[in-house]
Amino acid sequence: MISLRHVTTTFAATRGRGPVTAVYDVSLEVGRGRIQGIIGFSGAGKSTLLRNINLLERPSSGEVQVGDTVLTGLGDEGLRRARHQIGMIFQGFNLVNNLTAAQNVELALKFAGVRDRAVRRRRAAEALEIVDLSGKASAYPAQLSGGQKQRVAIARALAPEPEVLLCDEPTSALDPFTTASVLQYLADVNREFGITVVIVTHEMEVIKALADDVAVMEDGRVVERFGAQDLLSGSFDPATSIGRYLVSDGISVDRRPATDVESTAQSEALLEVVR
Ligand SMILES: Nc1ncnc2c1ncn2[C@@H]1O[C@H](COP(=O)(O)OP(=O)(O)OP(=O)(O)O)[C@@H](O)[C@H]1O
Ligand SMILES: [Mg+2]
Repeated sequence: MISLRHVTTTFAATRGRGPVTAVYDVSLEVGRGRIQGIIGFSGAGKSTLLRNINLLERPSSGEVQVGDTVLTGLGDEGLRRARHQIGMIFQGFNLVNNLTAAQNVELALKFAGVRDRAVRRRRAAEALEIVDLSGKASAYPAQLSGGQKQRVAIARALAPEPEVLLCDEPTSALDPFTTASVLQYLADVNREFGITVVIVTHEMEVIKALADDVAVMEDGRVVERFGAQDLLSGSFDPATSIGRYLVSDGISVDRRPATDVESTAQSEALLEVVR
């Protein structure tokens, strides 16, 4: 469904800073109906790679194909139309504050070229229904909780009936319970509508809960890939620290008294990092 071929994205130099290659020679195939996770530390290039998929960020080189369309071969008008196939949600929700939940969704439909106002209304109502927010249709963003805002954002992305949903850190502003509910909605729309999902996150739990396939990014490159099955079956031998963390039981902190710790040099080194 999504095919990235040798995608490289370099940002031009600015004053006081040389050029930055945020994505370097990434090739990635995401099958139709799959949930692809992309995980990595801050600055690894995850958001840039995600934005390469709908050409919000045009790659410096390489090819991007979504469905049958090679997006990198399109002009502005063709690209605008092709983007209707691709919904996107963000960490910060990006809702328009002076529009209600329903109006936010209707606006997306307007951008997607749905001319008939009554049709926009009906489809916005349907989309809000999918995320169980019919009761909040006339609420403004300021009157909604973080989780509700993110569900409006999901409804907005779904309303134009995209085949692909791109999610950039969709849960990192949410508490664990709300995160679980938002992930459940994403899993539901993936299952019910067969939407292909790409989710970028630095949260290991999100990857574990949702992704079918995982790509680990470091310094603009995909340095490791595996399937969720590999994590479960124990057959996966991780090569990266993120991979190792994913197969481990989570965060572990050494809380032995300092005198028990073999080498104080180690703590010294840690302190050095903290400073
Ligand atoms: N528009 C831009 N202009 C210049 N440099 C940029 C731009 N966008 C991103 N970068 C740089 O590209 C690199 C990758 O950024 P990106 O936002 O893709 O990382 P990320 O993995 O999403 O990080 P985070 O987890 O913090 O969101 C960083 O070094 C960043 O400073
Ligand atoms: Mg990012």
